[in-house]
Amino acid sequence: MKLTIIGTGYVGLVTGACFAEVGHHVTCVDNNAEKVKLLQSGGIPIYEPGLDELVARNVAAGRLRFTHSTKDGVDNSDIVFIAVPTPPQPDGSVDLSFIESVAREIAAAMTSYKIVVDKSTVPVKTGDKVAETIKRYCKAHADFDVVSNPEFLREGFAVEDLMKPDRIVIGVRTQRPVAAMREVYAPFNAPIIVTDINSAELIKHAANSFLALKISYINAISVICEASGANVIEVANGIGLDARIGRRFLDAGLGFGGSCFPKDLSAFIKISEQLGYDFALLKEVQRINAAQMDRFLKKITDTLWVLKDKKIGVLGLAFKQNTDDVRLSPAIELCQRLLKDGASLRVHDPKAMDKAKDILKPGPAITYVEDMNAVADGCDALVVATEWPVFKKLDLDRARKSLTHPILFDGRNLFDPQEMEQLGWIYKSVGR
Ligand code: UDX
Ligand code: UDX
Repeated sequence: MKLTIIGTGYVGLVTGACFAEVGHHVTCVDNNAEKVKLLQSGGIPIYEPGLDELVARNVAAGRLRFTHSTKDGVDNSDIVFIAVPTPPQPDGSVDLSFIESVAREIAAAMTSYKIVVDKSTVPVKTGDKVAETIKRYCKAHADFDVVSNPEFLREGFAVEDLMKPDRIVIGVRTQRPVAAMREVYAPFNAPIIVTDINSAELIKHAANSFLALKISYINAISVICEASGANVIEVANGIGLDARIGRRFLDAGLGFGGSCFPKDLSAFIKISEQLGYDFALLKEVQRINAAQMDRFLKKITDTLWVLKDKKIGVLGLAFKQNTDDVRLSPAIELCQRLLKDGASLRVHDPKAMDKAKDILKPGPAITYVEDMNAVADGCDALVVATEWPVFKKLDLDRARKSLTHPILFDGRNLFDPQEMEQLGWIYKSVGR
């Protein structure tokens, strides 16, 4: 099929490449001319495991191309997917201006029937607004259908999640676009759920809020574990083996961040409020998440006392493992708060250092270190802030000798407390 994706970011680029991989002909459109140039010359603007080979292979096969022109994309496809940002506004509601402007651009370019699919995460009822907008701005009065098709991919595992999805959700106003949408997803062999548009839009916010709730739940349990001498990993394993609960998203730590959970939670709370419901449960999810960072910082100050003039090594800047994305990263927030208290930092991340430099400017208080094993050099303590598996391979012997005193604060529970104590560390983790 001939498909166009508008917005070539973390979601749009991976989606486009995976559609091409299963045999569709895909045009990726972006309004950032530099990004399009980079992609056309074989570069990849983000780090996502497996993405570079996937893009290269499909470009070479003639199934994937990049353009700056929405008109070019719309003319050359039957189905147009929208994957542009839907950022939060200061009051928590969603800024839909990118969706609106892309809907107008599509409308202006349309001369024949198109299916316009919203992939971005949007408040319930946005599909109706997109349909109204297209109708109003399409001078050619072309026929069209609007579909909601939320994405569920995790950054760092996006290619895997897209190629082997748990489910595909297709929200429609009429049955007309269903057959074509099924055809798009047929090669992925996943269960397909067809719903009305409002339900499809709600499924996305309900799913992400539930996953965030699961993380806050285990983080609340971690507080009880610390107070009672239990171990949160044992508790997570014990409850996670109940198939009704499941072990995934029960890792206690510094809390969730990133460009989705925080934004989707505040959006869902706001949408619920507008619909007349006070979603207090989700406000508590937010509160627990924020408190988790406060409690971790308190562990650091309880141990190191005054942070002014202390040097702290930080492992991890990305908001999670396997990505270079630092948007709303708990690791970055941690660094900012340590800096505010007067500490100086030596920081490292396997992939996110370039993007982190835009937020945490290198200078006298912050040194970017290429080798993770050199981070501890001359520091008073070491902190693990992101769950990168490679940090488990840290040269602990070297780190112990390079620190003033062997102190490790593990915000992602990567090491074993007993082993660390046997090795002579003062080791503080979360919920253990
Ligand atoms: C986006 C949305 O933020 C999110 O709500 C949704 O769930 C998935 O899509 P992401 O792919 O992470 O998330 O965004 P980002 O990496 O910022 O990429 C968006 C791209 O759209 C950028 O390359 C930007 O240049 C482009 N864009 C933005 C357009 O092409 N046109 C616009 O009008 C605005
Ligand atoms: C999330 C959803 O998982 C995905 O389905 C949706 O489409 C987009 O939002 P993403 O934000 O990319 O994906 O990453 P995810 O793996 O969900 O992690 C989000 C945050 O939660 C990270 O900061 C991570 O460190 C944290 N997390 C995750 C935990 O603290 N504990 C866990 O058990 C799992």
